[in-house]
Amino acid sequence: MLKSFTPLSIKHMTVKNRIMRSATMENMADEDGFVTDQIIKLYSDLAAGGTGLIITGACAVEKNGQVWNRQMAAWDDQYINGLERIATAIHRSGKDCKCAVQLHHGGLAGFGYSYGGKNSGFSLSDLTTAEIKSIIKTFGDGALRIKKAGFDAVAVHGAHGYLISQFMSPVTNNRTDHWGGTLSNRLRFAIEVCYAIKEKIGAPMPLLWKINCDDYIEGGQGIDEYLQAAFVIAESGVDLIEVSGGVKDQIRLRAKLKQQAGPGEAYFRFAVKPFKQAIGAKALAVTGGIRSLPIMEELLNDGLDLLGICRPLICEPDLPDKFQAVSKQVTARCISCNKCLLGIANEPVKCVEFCK
Ligand SMILES: Cc1cc2nc3c(=O)[nH]c(=O)nc-3n(C[C@H](O)[C@H](O)[C@H](O)COP(=O)(O)O)c2cc1C
Ligand code: SF4
Repeated sequence: MLKSFTPLSIKHMTVKNRIMRSATMENMADEDGFVTDQIIKLYSDLAAGGTGLIITGACAVEKNGQVWNRQMAAWDDQYINGLERIATAIHRSGKDCKCAVQLHHGGLAGFGYSYGGKNSGFSLSDLTTAEIKSIIKTFGDGALRIKKAGFDAVAVHGAHGYLISQFMSPVTNNRTDHWGGTLSNRLRFAIEVCYAIKEKIGAPMPLLWKINCDDYIEGGQGIDEYLQAAFVIAESGVDLIEVSGGVKDQIRLRAKLKQQAGPGEAYFRFAVKPFKQAIGAKALAVTGGIRSLPIMEELLNDGLDLLGICRPLICEPDLPDKFQAVSKQVTARCISCNKCLLGIANEPVKCVEFCK
């Protein structure tokens, strides 16, 4: 039996297989951040295609942290009904499919990782402690709305140079108070976000966290400090750590990582064993470059719990079902050209290469 299609328990949530749709910006909300029919169709198709756990695209916890014009919002109770439509559509279309919303604050408009982000004029060094506490609270409040909307878990975007990652990385955090400086100070914001969320959603609901394993930038944070960070975050109540990397210019970075990975595909394969060791019994996912079933099986045999997949599922939402019928397909169609990534600067996400 293929390990990719065995179940995994994360707290009280059982994921039916090891395929996790890594958060993918839809850029399909209406201009006020409300869920649209287009979003419902996207998630119905994904759920129907066999994915075990779907994480939505980054959903803004406050207006000031919204990076894309059509990014979904969770900063007010009036968003709960729309979010509930997504959870219902996923649960209805995908037998036993589980789902989470990814909570996000862009901070310095993503510090240049993604494309098409608005410039918010946000300054991390100018934030007062009261303002920082207020943002932390928005994560807790957003998480409660996700729970009320019927999702199975809450996810947090702690990677890629957005606000949480800006606090964590010395390249973006030059504060001299207890929110900056040492690693434990730079981690404080993330830890307080964990506590704020856990307090609102309660212990049984899983909390999923995306973190870098390396910033891949001069003056940034490397794997040793990220391993320490992952340990502390896991101890603070997070149930699954998803490993990614980078804080700036995603397209150039991904091209380099893809070349380095070669036929091994997975950009962050080297991180599997050390992160697994750092987070103990908590679940581990890695995302980046995974394209074929034989590689998926190798990663799981190395101790990985979940396979994070983004671009191939834009291209083929039914890829998990195709993989399960192995006689039909063992490699995704996606060629990692990144045209979809450039596309979300101006339009809803789609596979630009194959869906003309
Ligand atoms: C169009 C697009 C949108 C993305 N949006 C998000 C997002 O909202 N949140 C996030 O954490 N990562 C986002 N990512 C990064 C992916 O989740 C993933 O980490 C990256 O694409 C590498 O995985 P892949 O090789 O399977 O695509 C996005 C990537 C793409 C291509
Ligand atoms: S546009 Fe390119 S990278 Fe994006 S899903 Fe399509 S083939 Fe993959």
